[in-house]
Amino acid sequence: MVENSEKIKEHVRETYSQVAQRAQASCGCGCGTASTASCCGPVSKDAYVQGIGYSLEDIKELPESAVGAAAGCGNPTAIAGLKEGEVVLDLGSGGGIDVFLSAKKVGPKGKAIGVDMTDEMLNLARKNAEELGFENVEFRKGDIEDLPVEDESVDVIISNCVINLAPDKDKVFREAYRVLRPGGRITVSDIVTDGPLPQEIKDNPDAWAACVSGALDKEEYLQKIRDAGFQDVKVLDCRGFGLVYSAEVEAFKGAHG
Ligand SMILES: C[S@@+](CC[C@H](N)C(=O)[O-])C[C@H]1O[C@@H](n2cnc3c(N)ncnc32)[C@H](O)[C@@H]1O
Repeated sequence: MVENSEKIKEHVRETYSQVAQRAQASCGCGCGTASTASCCGPVSKDAYVQGIGYSLEDIKELPESAVGAAAGCGNPTAIAGLKEGEVVLDLGSGGGIDVFLSAKKVGPKGKAIGVDMTDEMLNLARKNAEELGFENVEFRKGDIEDLPVEDESVDVIISNCVINLAPDKDKVFREAYRVLRPGGRITVSDIVTDGPLPQEIKDNPDAWAACVSGALDKEEYLQKIRDAGFQDVKVLDCRGFGLVYSAEVEAFKGAHG
């Protein structure tokens, strides 16, 4: 099954559709089928999101369902150095947590755009955007391997625990490079590995949807970013240790500063 990209995507879509529906029913992903050590945990949702880098300040103004749908492995909005007026694109925006936090940072002159392929996540994110009254937020349906975004139209790309889920990571990084303006940057939190995963894990579709099987060795991941054309590719931080862990990675499109 894991050889077939479309089947993988369908399984990922089904999984996160359930996460969105459970978040909307206010029970968060701690009780969903996608409840896993990397994407969620056997802890309250507030404790989970604080554990991956969000402050109480970050989450206190967000709707319960936006926090409940959070399924990241870090907080890219805390390290992306977002400035007023910037255009931010979130790859795999889920319930919208990072889009909302970005929108606050870039202010009314900036914009935060989320792209996601799962209808139920998009519906939840749009409902939350309306509830929060954001006018500088937009959610688009699409595949991060083929972004519904204009060339060179974005200042900053963020992504939180999503690129590992994409079967073709080369396409994702090429697309990210295409839509960034020259001098723009990408800051992602994602799951990586320290060496190869056992074949039985790689072949398990539930482990793929739980952000494990699709994770690449860290060096291979960084090389794919370089191969897409990015410069100054570096790991800013890591969370966890062992074979599978999360890394926060930054890279630039050309000269910057
Ligand atoms: C683990 S969740 C993370 C959601 C969000 N970034 C967060 O931190 O809460 C993965 C999200 O990525 C979306 N996704 C996975 N693969 C995708 C793809 N190829 N294109 C677009 N969205 C994708 C899923 O629908 C889901 O909403």
